[in-house]
Order: sequence, then C-alpha cells, then structure tokens
Amino acid sequence: MAGMKTIIEPFKIKSVEPIRVTTREERVGLLAEAGYNPFLLKADDVIIDLLTDSGTSAMSAKQWACIMDGDESYAGSRSFYRFESKVREITGFRNIIPTHQGRAAEHILFSLLGGAGKHFASNTHFDTTRANIEVSGAEAHDFLTAEGKRPEFRAPFKGNIDLPAFKRFVDEVGAENIPLCLMTVTNNSGGGQPVSMANIRETSVFCRSRGIPFFIDACRFAENSWFIKTREEGYADRSVLSIAQELFSYADGATMSAKKDALVNIGGFLAINDDALAMTARNSLIVTEGFPTYGGLAGRDLEAMAQGLEEILDEDYLRYRVRTAEYLGERIVAMGVPIIEPPGGHAVYIDAKRFVPDIPAGQFPAQAVSCALYLEGGVRTVEIGSVMFGKRDAEGRHIAPPMELVRMALPRRVYTQSHIDYVIEVVEEVWKRRAELKGLRFTYEAPVLRHFTARFEPLR
Ligand code: F0G
Repeated sequence: MAGMKTIIEPFKIKSVEPIRVTTREERVGLLAEAGYNPFLLKADDVIIDLLTDSGTSAMSAKQWACIMDGDESYAGSRSFYRFESKVREITGFRNIIPTHQGRAAEHILFSLLGGAGKHFASNTHFDTTRANIEVSGAEAHDFLTAEGKRPEFRAPFKGNIDLPAFKRFVDEVGAENIPLCLMTVTNNSGGGQPVSMANIRETSVFCRSRGIPFFIDACRFAENSWFIKTREEGYADRSVLSIAQELFSYADGATMSAKKDALVNIGGFLAINDDALAMTARNSLIVTEGFPTYGGLAGRDLEAMAQGLEEILDEDYLRYRVRTAEYLGERIVAMGVPIIEPPGGHAVYIDAKRFVPDIPAGQFPAQAVSCALYLEGGVRTVEIGSVMFGKRDAEGRHIAPPMELVRMALPRRVYTQSHIDYVIEVVEEVWKRRAELKGLRFTYEAPVLRHFTARFEPLR
C-alpha cells in the first residue's frame, strides 16, 4: 500500500451482523431505563459499541476454520501443542499455561506470590490485576512516568515506568518484599500509551540486579511492539515479531488476556520461566480452571488463539489498527475536543475535565459526556473517572481520582472508516452542545466495583 494516502482496512467482510438503528427519542427512554449507566444498556440498543476492545474482535475466516478443527481431547490436545508452540515462538517462555482469560492468570500468579506484607510494582496495574493483588492481602503500587499524567502533553512513550521512583521504593521496602514487577504493555489505564524498549530493558536489568522477577502484562503486546517500531530509534527496519521477541526476552514471564491482541472472544495464558513456580501454578490451575493442556478453554479456543497470535503480527493490520485510533483522535482534536495525546493503540480517551469544566468531579463529568454520546448517536463508551475510581473520606465527601476520562475503545476488525466517521460526527454534536450537559447523582451505588451496576439521575 506504499504511496497511497488512504490506509485501508486490510481485510474484506465475509460475514456481517446487522446494527439496529435507534432514534434519539428511543434512546432518551433507553438511557433512563438503564439508570444513565451505559453498562446497563442492552447491546442491541447500541449503534456503535466502543465500551471495550476486549473479547469483541472479529475473528478471521481462518480462525473460524480453527474452531471446527480444534481437538477436544481432555489431555494432550493437538490444539494445545499448536497454541503452546505459537506462544513460545513469540515469547520464548518455558512454561505456557492456558487460562480462560487474563484475570484467571492474574489470580493464579498473585495468589501464589502475594499475601500480607508483600508489595507489587508496575507502570500501572489494570483494575483486575490490582484487585487480584489486594485480594491476596498484598499491596499494588503504580510508578507511572510523570509525562504519562499530563493528558495534553505529547510524548512517544507515556506508558513508561518511572524507574528512579521504583528504585527508591525498592530501597524503602526491600527487594525481598517485592515478589514481582509487572510492566503493562500498552498501559491501558494510562490511556493506552506504549512503553519503550529502553524502559523495558532498563527495568529488567534493574530487577535482575535486585533479584526481583520481571513480568509483562501482555494484553496489547503487538500494538506496543508496533509503537516501538515506528517511534523508537533503531527499530524501524525490524519485524514486529522480532521486536515482540526482544520485548519478552527481558522478562521472566507474562500474563495475557488473549481477548485483546490474540483476536479471540475468550482466552488467556500465564507464562513462566521458573519451573518450580510453573509447577505450583499448574497445580492451582487444575483446581480452578482445568487440566494443564486446556485450562478453562475448549480445544477450539486454543486453536483460534494460536491463529490470532499469528494474524496480530501482520504489519499491514497493525498500521491500519494504530492509524484508526490516530484518525479518530486527530479529527476530534481538530474540533478542539480535549483528549489524552497522542491517541493510544486501542482507544481514544476524552479528557472530560476539560470537555465540561463546569461539572465538578462529584457530579461525574465523564459519565455525563458518556451519556451524551449515547443519547446523541447511540455510541457506547466507558467512564474512567470518579464513578470507577472515586472514593469517600470519613465525612462522606467525594475524593476524585487524578483524571476524568471517557474511553472510546476500538474493537479489532469490527468497524469500518465510515463507522468511525459517524463517531466523529457524534462527538462533534456533543462538543457543540457541551454547555448544556448536566452532572449526575447516584440513585444506587454498590459497595464494590460500583461502576458496573450504579444507577444515576441527571441533575437539573
Ligand atoms: N490487563 C489489562 C491491561 C487489561 O486491559 C485487562 C482487561 C486485563 C488485564 C484483564 O483481562 O478481561 O481477560 O480478564 N481489560 C478489559 C478492558 C476488560 O476493557 O480494558 P481479562
């Protein structure tokens, strides 16, 4: 495609799913019924679903063929060996343990290594990762580089770990109390921003010098490898596969939600070099997930994952993929819409603090923008701000997290450019009428993970 300006979707469509088009009037009622919480909408009432890129990928014809071809043997399935050899080719890890999704791998790993008095470190822990660490009794600490905390600031690798801060922390609590450092690539909670190879290498060298195992949260490893190829000096001529191989070579293991960069609707794995740790992990897997050659999945799922891991490293795909988020970002930035810049690999994050500066954090500005996007055009997004991460002090006053974001996550290979153009128009309409947006207040709030089930009413 060299020379052409338009980066096309490098696939054609063989099977389609109809979209039910609702009217604004219908959506007024549907949103009220859902308690102004897009999580509670029926997917059939959504026109463009940007809630998540997780498990929402379109599988290829070859992957669907794998579904038929999967070997459903309880033990020693051929599909497991194909999956294992594909993961090993990319990551080089010794022990590959399939799980039904990312958090199952996290649960096994952190229940083995966690416990009271232990501290885990990361550029940013994803919420399920943090939850699995905290459930074990241990503490999770994020050391995101300072530039990663400034939404409007453009830098190539805003997902990096702040290595000096991490080093100080190791001196403070003692390396013996840190069972693991986990690098999340790309950094989902920090705006889908990539981590540089230099940062990964230096963190690995430091961890090894202090005897701290270094792991990768590999959900979006291919997107991160593409950013390294296009943004980091010395990688332009390398294949994405060889970049991914180098990235994993610095680590002692990985957790992976295959629902992202393995292009499947369900699946994941835990990879570990240490044979003794892998043995205890497999024993735990047998209790919670299944036998080590299927681990909570069907043989067909393992087969589809192996195929997906092959397809994700296609550079025409990755160029189109990253360009999609960039295109959406560029177009709305040109209207003046504030986002986390530059756009990440899998999503564009609207900065609601600057979008609706008059709505205070306690009235959930990002939730208000997310609701408006649904009302305006049936576009479903997710709030990542005070609803998801807000806390209360002893007097019940709202304590806001540092950012109020609306994530527009892009499912893989699902929407075409005209769908994205439609989303851009919807954002434009909401942006024009931003002064009319009102905050919200809770009418129901669950004690934990309240964002999933909360109900609201709009403030007048
Ligand atoms: N790590 C990261 C960085 C993630 O983004 C996710 C999931 C997980 C771990 C957990 O994986 O869902 O397979 O158990 N992120 C999804 C999202 C849910 O919408 O960003 P899982």
